[in-house]
Amino acid sequence: MLNTPRAAKAVPSLIKWTGSKRFQAAGIAALIPPYRRYFEPFLGGGGLLYLTAAPGSVAGDLYGPLIGLWKLIQSDPARVAEDYHRKWNALKKELGDLHASKIRWGEGIPGFFYSVRSAFNETKGPLELNFILRTCVNGIVRFNHQGDFNNSFHLSRPGMEPSRFKAIVTAWSATIQGVKFVCRDYQRTVASAGKDDFVYFDPPYAGNRQRYIENLDLPRFFATLEDLNKRKVKWALSFDGRRGGADLTHAVPERLFKRHLFLRNGNSAVNKVLNGPVENVDESLYLNY
Ligand SMILES: C[S@@+](CC[C@H](N)C(=O)[O-])C[C@H]1O[C@@H](n2cnc3c(N)ncnc32)[C@H](O)[C@@H]1O
Repeated sequence: MLNTPRAAKAVPSLIKWTGSKRFQAAGIAALIPPYRRYFEPFLGGGGLLYLTAAPGSVAGDLYGPLIGLWKLIQSDPARVAEDYHRKWNALKKELGDLHASKIRWGEGIPGFFYSVRSAFNETKGPLELNFILRTCVNGIVRFNHQGDFNNSFHLSRPGMEPSRFKAIVTAWSATIQGVKFVCRDYQRTVASAGKDDFVYFDPPYAGNRQRYIENLDLPRFFATLEDLNKRKVKWALSFDGRRGGADLTHAVPERLFKRHLFLRNGNSAVNKVLNGPVENVDESLYLNY
């Protein structure tokens, strides 16, 4: 039996991840033909997976702690929600105390956020990852050269209210039952994709070394697309687009795709922080069908 993407007004914010496709998900899903299995080999926060997950789907990422978090959301959503609630209460209490004592903000404050961040860098625990992603500056995933998470606390935002987060984790967990989460390179994730399957690629942008653990090797990536074309596997690829007037598109070889569309991404949090003034970003979507 073939599957089609589910219709939903919005994708609830589960895992905050740089480059999230949450706001483009409905537009991309509308272009996906019926499929047997859905493959998402650069999963990140899985913006599209909420609409496309079906039994037998395969979702992968090279970053192990992230896959650990996905597996826990799938198997034990109550634990994820309860842990977040406990941590959120502790943070809120500290913020209240700091406010009352008029302590000046500075390095390492609030201590609770930074203690969870240190614990994550020590253990790579999924619950710690979840909490720091929800409370760090603009939810931006950033690592130092040692591979430690180093984004700071978001001063003006204490994180999503726990009851709302619980409802989101519960809904997501139900949706992703039957999905296989794997920690592996994208090439291995799509190795078993066949003629009736569909693959959505959302690789890290070339040159974004600071924000992603791996830089994309374009020749190897294009060879993977070529191989899928030979195997008659349908795919969609999100790639750099246009910001303001500048064209940031990569030269995806024309022989590899049939259609090239632009999707409006709105104002990106990454641009806001790293590149000064906010501009509209159009993201490229390439389709091989
Ligand atoms: C642009 S993000 C995906 C964002 C996702 N679509 C979302 O909505 O949140 C790219 C992801 O690819 C992962 N990645 C980088 N190199 C990889 C590789 N060689 N194989 C698999 N995943 C990789 C990164 O860890 C990151 O999570």
